[in-house]
Amino acid sequence: MEDTEKIAEEAQAEAEKAENSQALYEVKTRFLGRTGKVTALLKSMKEIAAERRPAFGKQINALREKLEQLFAAREEKVKARELEARLAEERADVTMPARRRKKGGLHPITRTKNELIDIFAGMGFEVFEGPEIENEYYNFTALNTPKDHPARDMQDTFYLTDEFLLRTQTSAGQIRLMEKKKPPIKMLSPGRVFRSDDDATHSPMFHQMEGLVVDRGITLCDLQGMLDQFARTMFAETSKTRLRPSYFPFTEPSVEVDVSCASCGGRGCALCKGTGWIEVLGAGMVNRRVLENCGIDPDEYSGFAFGMGIERIAMLKYGINHIRLFTENDLRFLQQFED
Ligand code: DAH
Repeated sequence: MEDTEKIAEEAQAEAEKAENSQALYEVKTRFLGRTGKVTALLKSMKEIAAERRPAFGKQINALREKLEQLFAAREEKVKARELEARLAEERADVTMPARRRKKGGLHPITRTKNELIDIFAGMGFEVFEGPEIENEYYNFTALNTPKDHPARDMQDTFYLTDEFLLRTQTSAGQIRLMEKKKPPIKMLSPGRVFRSDDDATHSPMFHQMEGLVVDRGITLCDLQGMLDQFARTMFAETSKTRLRPSYFPFTEPSVEVDVSCASCGGRGCALCKGTGWIEVLGAGMVNRRVLENCGIDPDEYSGFAFGMGIERIAMLKYGINHIRLFTENDLRFLQQFED
């Protein structure tokens, strides 16, 4: 019987020595486990005289309870100490340099497109996007370019069927909008266009931005005023524009618009080939026939339209010398446009 007291003392001493949960668990198993000391005592019951068994059993149960309490108390202390140690070890060091997060940037074409939209939205234009697969009526015929018109040749075209094609110009959007909306109209139509073209400044897929204004009393002066404003915001505060006569079937008169070279200030350099001017877009007064095709009376209304290549604007603005850079996805190129 003195065993139970000795065992309790032993357990107490060993538990005190256990400095962590693992060690304590081992101590616990040595006393209360299946082959532990307390279990061994229980097993020894059958060797004890029957009349002493109940008292013996009680004693062992009391011992077990005592040990369980003792281990539980020790466990609480050990766990608390372990938690403290972990907290100390894992404390965040706020003086460490932060890990840099890589952030992406907008593609230069998207940036340029957004800039263009910002400029014209500031002048009251709304954005309208037409479909990339067009039929030949919207892409050509309604734009006063009937079948066999020589101007169709200037745009080597991807036909899907006799009727459907990948649009060659965002001008198709003009017709779609004017069929739906009557003047006053101030529309901006950005998007992808497709032509069978490929060299340093042309690619089979590129982007255009179309502009269209139709109202009473619109003149070429309104066009130039707006383009001046555009050039000053997009290129340089001192930029000027000039109009040169040109030809497009859907405008009359038609013009090519040059912007004074921002690189040399108009004195002449390699970029502007010594002329001081750079061609940036086509434009003109909307041809009467185009207005008529859309059910707008050309005697009451007039308008101007313009169309520019977004790649071309981006190449001029950022000094990019090959159009393929836009689609190669070379990070060394793209990263130069991150904010
Ligand atoms: N669609 C023409 C092209 O792709 C550009 C253009 C010229 C658009 C004159 C216009 C315009 O709206 O008036 O070459």
